Amino acid sequence: MALVVVGSAKGGTAATTVALGLAGAAAVRGGPEVVLLEADSSGGDLELDFDVPAASGLVALAAAARRGGMTSVLLRAHAQLLSSGVRAVHAPVAFGQARTALEALEPLWRADQFEDLLVVADVGALTTSRATELVSLADVVVLASGGSRVQLTHTADAIGVILAPTVAVAVTGECAYGPEEIVAHLDATDCALLPHDPLSAAVLRGARVPKRAGQWRRAAARFPLLHAVSELGTRLESHLPASKVPDPDPAGTAWPARTGAGPEPLASALAALEH
Ligand SMILES: Nc1ncnc2c1ncn2[C@@H]1O[C@H](COP(=O)(O)OP(=O)(O)OP(=O)(O)O)[C@@H](O)[C@H]1O
Ligand SMILES: [Mg+2]
Repeated sequence: MALVVVGSAKGGTAATTVALGLAGAAAVRGGPEVVLLEADSSGGDLELDFDVPAASGLVALAAAARRGGMTSVLLRAHAQLLSSGVRAVHAPVAFGQARTALEALEPLWRADQFEDLLVVADVGALTTSRATELVSLADVVVLASGGSRVQLTHTADAIGVILAPTVAVAVTGECAYGPEEIVAHLDATDCALLPHDPLSAAVLRGARVPKRAGQWRRAAARFPLLHAVSELGTRLESHLPASKVPDPDPAGTAWPARTGAGPEPLASALAALEH
């Protein structure tokens, strides 16, 4: 399993948005099947965002894995296709249920179980996480952070206890520092400064792309958030073990794909841009 864990020091700094973006971008690029695992012990967002059935997802996965062990078949079977085109195992909304499911899964995760998958796990705030085994197994950890001195300091603190060989910082919001400065001071591998882009953020949460092409062309402004997250994902691929790197995109297209292939409505967004 290639495992990319997305989390944050204290929460509320766009971890879920970044996880949805990285999973969507990887799915569009091709390569191993991508599963977004919502492993946030403070409760999930995807069930409400995408209106998926409460009884499925993480709770059912935990029950099945306890009986028969964790396998990639099981993980796939509990992933649902979200309207954005991403396959996801969603966490229950209630934090008590999410926490119980994650605690049951904690001893069952092993790196060699899902060789054929790219799992993007959204663990939420690391300080309250019940998915610490996932964090310790990660090939790459992406920490979503605010851009203030205080928020970056908390992020640096979190980086200090992460064992993953590659740690990237995805900054949302006002930031007075450059990416190189953040990489150097936080001892990170990579840093992306993500633009404020409510439209991309909404599309990642399943919002429909505006219908009128003219409106879309203006509103899109080339989806700066989607492109920034996609570029981060592409850079991070080189830090995955060689056997786990997805096939290069044969068309050489940046995400969102301009071919019309790939997840909806992201692909249709690009199709609209072409007109
Ligand atoms: N670059 C951005 N531009 C505009 N809005 C954004 C951006 N990134 C995130 N948002 C919005 O900010 C809100 C919080 O983001 P998100 O849910 O991803 O944070 P989080 O770190 O997962 O929060 P929590 O710790 O509560 O799980 C969401 O409404 C999301 O759509
Ligand atoms: Mg979240």
